[in-house]
Order: sequence, then structure tokens, then C-alpha cells
Amino acid sequence: MNFPACFALLFALLATTYANTEKVIFTAPPVFNIESSGPSFEQLQLQVITSKSTSRRLSLPVAFPSGQQTKGVDAWYLLRDLSPAQRYEVRVCWAAVQPTNFVLDVFNTTHVFDTPELIQDLAAYSETQQSQQSIKKESTKYHDQDSILFLRIQAAADFFTSNQTLMSSPPPVDVELILDPYLANVFPRSLLPTAVYIVILAGGGWFLSDEIWRRLFAGTEKRHKD
Ligand SMILES: *[C@@H]1O[C@H](CO)[C@@H](O)[C@H](O)[C@H]1NC(C)=O
Ligand SMILES: *[C@@H]1O[C@H](CO)[C@@H](O)[C@H](O)[C@H]1NC(C)=O
Repeated sequence: MNFPACFALLFALLATTYANTEKVIFTAPPVFNIESSGPSFEQLQLQVITSKSTSRRLSLPVAFPSGQQTKGVDAWYLLRDLSPAQRYEVRVCWAAVQPTNFVLDVFNTTHVFDTPELIQDLAAYSETQQSQQSIKKESTKYHDQDSILFLRIQAAADFFTSNQTLMSSPPPVDVELILDPYLANVFPRSLLPTAVYIVILAGGGWFLSDEIWRRLFAGTEKRHKD
């Protein structure tokens, strides 16, 4: 198999698992004293995402854009245990068979608590979470001094079908949510195996072509002698 074919195969493999990705890149804020902050983060009942919980599979509700919800349905998460000044990205990956528009934003605590629209959205989402009894309680204890950000994911359905059932209530979208620290603030950690693989493929391809070239050359030399 030649080098371009290897690449094509690699990307085909990546594409069949998850075709679409949306991401937001940010730098973690300075630590924040949670105890002095008044509102209790536990009371918000948000799912907590740390870079230790590597990837998370979620089923996100979606809606078609409409009057109030121009970007679909909002979901809020709490990013905790970040390292101040470290660069991260949050990625959402989903299958191409569920066409969706995702918008990802991160907000620091002051930004959220000082912006009426954001605090209203967050409160509304928090209420829906509290009404769902099945929500998993986070047992992990976090530091009172923590670098924290809010993550908002907006999900809007993006397809058309003549099936009225699907058009009036689009099914939830299965996604994979990843919080990925950058190595040396340059390269996302979880993409390292892929990068190493490509480098090995490239190196292998180079040696192989060299070998093939030498054999071809040896072949022509032989014929010259004959
Ligand atoms: C919070 O976010 C706002 C808006 O992006 C920014 O102006 C502010 O400096 C941030 N504060 C901290 C403590 O990072
Ligand atoms: C519409 O979609 C739903 C959900 O996939 C399915 O159960 C139903 O049979 C479909 N209706 C028609 C008329 O195709």
C-alpha cells in the first residue's frame, strides 16, 4: 500500500467513527475562591468536566432554531480543576448521520454572574437538571480554590425531512465531549497518538519508497549488464 493510500485509509477510519467536530479553545483563568463567591456551584447541579475525565458520551437534546432559541437548546457544564494559564480545547464530536449545528462557548464566573441573559439561561438549565431525579451526584470533592469555567453548548437540529414526527421533535444527538489540555500550550494531548501514527506512517513510507527505488534501480542496472 502506498503512502497516499495509507493516508486515505486513516482518514476514512477517522471519518466513519465521528465525522463532525466543533471546538472552543481557551486559556484557563486564575484560581477563584469558591467559598467567597456566594452562589454555591453544587446547587447548580451541573455536570462537572475535568481533564481527568477524558471523554464523555452524552445524548444532547436539540431543537430547530426558532424565535427565542436561535441557536437551539442550551446545555451548561462546569469545567473544574483547570490549571491556570494552561491552554485547553473542548471538542464535541458527533456522527454525520445526525446533522446538527453546535455552538460552544466558555465563560468565566464573573462574566456569567454579571450578564443577566447568561445567568437567566444558566438558572433555567439548572432547574431542568434539578427536576431530573436521575441525575448523577458528583461525589468528588474539589478544592475551594479552583480554576473554573462555565461551558455552554448550544445544539440546533440541521436537517429537513417530510416526516412530521421528526420535524416537530428531533431526536437527541449522541456526542462525545472531550476536555483536552494542550501539550506545551501548542498541541492537544489526546491527538498525540494520531500524530505519532502519522509520523510513523510518513517515516515508514519514506523508507519504503527508498527501498523500492533502490530495487528498481538495481533491476535496471542488471538489465544494462545483460
Ligand atoms: C472574564 O471574562 C471577561 C469577558 O471575556 C473578561 O473581560 C475578564 O477579564 C475575565 N475575567 C477573568 C478573571 O478572567
Ligand atoms: C417518522 O419517524 C419516526 C421516528 O424515526 C418513525 O417512528 C415513524 O415511523 C416515521 N413516520 C413515517 C411516516 O415515516
